[in-house]
Amino acid sequence: MLGSGLAGLRAAEVLREKNFQGKITLVGAESHLPYNRPPLSKQFLAGEWEEDRVRLRLPAEFHSLELEFLKGLKVVGLDLQQRSVQLSQGTAIDFDGLVIATGAENRQLPALEGRPRVFTLRTLTEALALRQALSDAKSLLIVGGGFIGSEVAATAHGLGIRVCIVEPQQTLMYRGLGEEVGSAVTNLHREKGIDVRCNTEIAHVHDDGERTSIELSDGTTHTPDVILVGIGATPTTDWLSGSNVHLSNGVVCDENCRVMTADGLAVKSVVAAGDVARWFSRSQNCLVRSEHWTNAQDQAVNAAHTLLLDLNGEGGNALPYDPVPYMWSDQFGKKIQAIGFGDPTDEVHIVKGALSDGKFLAIMERENRFVGAIGVAMVPLVMQARILLTEGASLDVAREKLAS
Ligand code: APR
Repeated sequence: MLGSGLAGLRAAEVLREKNFQGKITLVGAESHLPYNRPPLSKQFLAGEWEEDRVRLRLPAEFHSLELEFLKGLKVVGLDLQQRSVQLSQGTAIDFDGLVIATGAENRQLPALEGRPRVFTLRTLTEALALRQALSDAKSLLIVGGGFIGSEVAATAHGLGIRVCIVEPQQTLMYRGLGEEVGSAVTNLHREKGIDVRCNTEIAHVHDDGERTSIELSDGTTHTPDVILVGIGATPTTDWLSGSNVHLSNGVVCDENCRVMTADGLAVKSVVAAGDVARWFSRSQNCLVRSEHWTNAQDQAVNAAHTLLLDLNGEGGNALPYDPVPYMWSDQFGKKIQAIGFGDPTDEVHIVKGALSDGKFLAIMERENRFVGAIGVAMVPLVMQARILLTEGASLDVAREKLAS
């Protein structure tokens, strides 16, 4: 089991639930027990929750899985022929079955990397450092208005910090929500007093050893107390180079989460799950990858089932993994939820509420099909939309049921 995040943990749990009695080794680059990332930009950053509250399992529950937990160690290589992985401190582990759940890592901005008061947020250690820095900060500049940037902006605003977000796209959260809904979220931030600068980039950076100053493409210069860079993530696959695993924006997998080789063969008893996995979706008829919590949790279950079937010689019974994606974000006390494989080019129909009220349900149309929904402060209706999408409802049926 490579990766001690949600996907790695969940896969180990499924193996034990299914009575797998063999040895399970869990390798994790971080030294914490598996923890939950969504609260790091919210309750944990706000100081409302401490470390014990972000743990995915109580220590006793975790230990009852009887794993060999190799924490603080990185995996640096995979030999598919020998069926072994190499670890950072020089040892190797042989395996019969392997789960690759190494997740993703934050993209860095070279112009800001290593500068004073510049932070990124993905791990608990990074969240602690950012929380500490914000404890006596008056101003925060966020580079990147995606999930992390928008959530941290809302949290920091709640702490009384003046916040500016710099985003090169036309709205906040454009990648996940598209222009119309992204604009509504942008307005929500502006109404709260966040200085949101869209269509804006970083022009120049300099620092005096103590503080970092950023000149923006709109001509303004900012020297905030704290800078957060939240410009997206890339799957953690560098350790697989030269392994003959097919890498293309993640670890390429078949529809059962089995890892594929560069020659197009599925490798028995080697599966991947979570942010790192790019699997073949039957319904989309293409490879897809999802960086969200629900996917890590659900894909780990499917991958562990495939692994057990392969180990028992019953791999032909493996079920395809083909979920309706679901993600959520919490900002200013509002729950933003999205379902489906939405794309910023989809046509948007508001079927309940109004964008201007910051409380609405939007459904997405592509080629006359119902392909997704986004709700802001519309939790029960989003859940209904999720069921309709899973059932393959038509656009007309979705519109009629959700608008009534
Ligand atoms: N300068 C400024 N902004 C940039 C740059 C850049 N050079 N490059 C990208 N951006 C912007 C993008 O336009 C996008 O709006 O950064 C934003 C990144 O947003 P996300 O892709 O949502 O990534 P992030 O917010 O870092 O979250 C990382 O963590 O919780 C998960 O699912 C979440 O996939 C997300 C991941």
